[in-house]
Amino acid sequence: MTPSGATDVREYLRAQAAVIDGALERYLPAPDDCPPLVAEAMRYSLFAGGKRLRPILTLAAAETVAPAAAARTADALPAACAVEMIHTYSLVHDDLPAMDDDTLRRGRPTAHVAFGEGAAILAGDALLTEAFRVLARWPAGGDPELAGRKLRAAERVAAGAGAGGMVGGQALDLQASGQVPGRSLPIADGDGLRTLHGLKTGALMRAAAAAGAILAGGTGAEIDAVDAYAAHLGLGFQIVDDILDVESTADALGKTAGKDAAAGKPTYPSILGLDRSRALAVEAIGAAKAALRAGGLSGRLDGIADWVLTRTH
Ligand code: IPE
Ligand code: IPE
Ligand code: MG
Ligand code: MG
Ligand code: MG
Repeated sequence: MTPSGATDVREYLRAQAAVIDGALERYLPAPDDCPPLVAEAMRYSLFAGGKRLRPILTLAAAETVAPAAAARTADALPAACAVEMIHTYSLVHDDLPAMDDDTLRRGRPTAHVAFGEGAAILAGDALLTEAFRVLARWPAGGDPELAGRKLRAAERVAAGAGAGGMVGGQALDLQASGQVPGRSLPIADGDGLRTLHGLKTGALMRAAAAAGAILAGGTGAEIDAVDAYAAHLGLGFQIVDDILDVESTADALGKTAGKDAAAGKPTYPSILGLDRSRALAVEAIGAAKAALRAGGLSGRLDGIADWVLTRTH
């Protein structure tokens, strides 16, 4: 990618993140709408400055399958926000003492450090639940075709987030790290890692992108192409996350570095080494872009894939 191309993608990511932040502000319960502790704890983690990659995938996928129809991408905005709410819940729970036991997230003390474990668990529960309220309610209107798309998108997001998706991956992560009494499931090779990363990180990214394509009225083939793209992208993204945990700093990441090795987590660098990990990340991003091309798609998703490889946090 040319330097100007890279700048262009960063500018696009910044602009889309601002759109998503504005919409999240509208969709999220305010302290007047519910017991203030819940609203405050949800907002604390959500507005701490995440990259918003998953909701950006939703919007970019919508644009990619319906480039001329701005209204269609507006139709995808609520689902984009729902996906970010689910992602943020996954981070809040991932950081709990019972899971990765982290104290820093998005440059702030983790939710359980700031609010206590009970309130952090509830903030995660509320983010997950409210996400499905957003998916069910918006975009509003009586168009039966759009109502059908909303339902299909919600089902896809549920599948990506649930037992056969992100939650399942987090369960495998716990077992692989020896954190489930009597149920250890060590991972010793690339195949096992690919399954783990595909579920804990890939599944929600796939759902994010597919939901955008569905809501924008994409064809079955377009939805499949975007899904395949996001599966490879998610793998590449998590390999880079594993590499950054080894090579970067808490200041740059906004979360503790060096934590995976200390906790004995199975990661690409720990099992395959840094050089091989880098090569596999490049391969995954190449495969993501190839999946787009094979589906006859282009647009922003291509540059986003390049960005995943060069990201520093
Ligand atoms: C962190 O995701 C969890 C992983 C799957 C690696 P991000 O790196 O997208 O975190 P935020 O949303 O920018 O904080
Ligand atoms: C988290 O993976 C994946 C989730 C589903 C939250 P990690 O445990 O590697 O994410 P970080 O490094 O804490 O962000
Ligand atoms: Mg984890
Ligand atoms: Mg973690
Ligand atoms: Mg990590």
